[in-house]
Amino acid sequence: MKIRVGGKTKNYRTVWFENRSVKLIDQTKLPFKFSIYSAKTYKQTREAIRNMIVRGAPAIGATAAFATAQAALEFKGKDLKKFFAYMRDAARFLKTARPTAIDLAHAVDRVLKIIKKAHSVREAKTTAVFQANLISREYIKVCERIGKNGEKLIHSGAKILTHCNAGALATVDIGTALAPIRFAHNNGKRIFVFVDETRPRLQGSKLTAWELAQEKIPHAVIADNAAGLFMQRGDVDICIVGADRIAANGDTANKIGTYEKAVLARENGIPFYIAAPLTTFDFKTKSGEKIPIEFRADEEVLYATDGKTKVPISNLSSKVKNPGFDVTPARYINGYITEFGVFTAKNLKKLRKF
Ligand code: MRU
Repeated sequence: MKIRVGGKTKNYRTVWFENRSVKLIDQTKLPFKFSIYSAKTYKQTREAIRNMIVRGAPAIGATAAFATAQAALEFKGKDLKKFFAYMRDAARFLKTARPTAIDLAHAVDRVLKIIKKAHSVREAKTTAVFQANLISREYIKVCERIGKNGEKLIHSGAKILTHCNAGALATVDIGTALAPIRFAHNNGKRIFVFVDETRPRLQGSKLTAWELAQEKIPHAVIADNAAGLFMQRGDVDICIVGADRIAANGDTANKIGTYEKAVLARENGIPFYIAAPLTTFDFKTKSGEKIPIEFRADEEVLYATDGKTKVPISNLSSKVKNPGFDVTPARYINGYITEFGVFTAKNLKKLRKF
């Protein structure tokens, strides 16, 4: 993505690997400060996922792939058996960083599977780094195809509502839900984006709004509880959101608040789409109630932060319940925009072939 910092425009990916370090655009500081975080060990990279320096299912997947490569590089010795035992532990540890986004487990397992074919520790280390870079590059291509496939659903003049951040920052580049929006804008379609602020971490008003502003895509941030009014007034033509995990029947876990937007969309006759790569589908999980939902720290609800200082915004002696995700039943979802085309819940089975 092109980013203007200090009067200069530069191309960045959300995550990349450099000199055994995982480099990340620090999303806890945006939009107030643009900085790069350097995770030097695989444990530090896992912490960066947990602390949401990097977040968004595909971005977490790519980061975890690099963390797996880092774990391999950190191993000392030549004993292949000991190496594999150590890697299994490291992979298990990495996969617990965040429970809902399935891209994380898929990426770690993919690196692990491929290095098992290695005949020496050295070969395994090289393969791990190669594979992690491949995963990261593939995400970019996949997002491009999601953009092309999804753009067909957006007509000139369309007003689109999105929730959370499923943009370049949530992937390696381009985004999932924001990919069709980027393509439509770049192809000269007049569009307008309603950006849900996305309490409590404000991925919408901080990250999506920042990305759209960088590319001068017309948009407005709305408070989470304002979406119903705009839908009722006929101001929203289509909703496109991302996903953290899609069960075999199409039930979709995504950022908390997605479910209520989908119900509102159905009530108001607005099509509701999920944009996600194949890596976000979890065909082993039959339906939504089996998807683990991450609960996060109370302080995300009690305080507001600009990434540096935090200010109390709630009654601090109160109890808090802070689910990070909810599950939208497949019946509210008109289609799934993937790199292989747009599918309905009924024909999701076709996706398994890829
Ligand atoms: O808690 P987050 O910020 O990692 O949650 C992110 C989302 O819910 C996104 O919508 C989802 O991962 C899709 S990202 C392309």
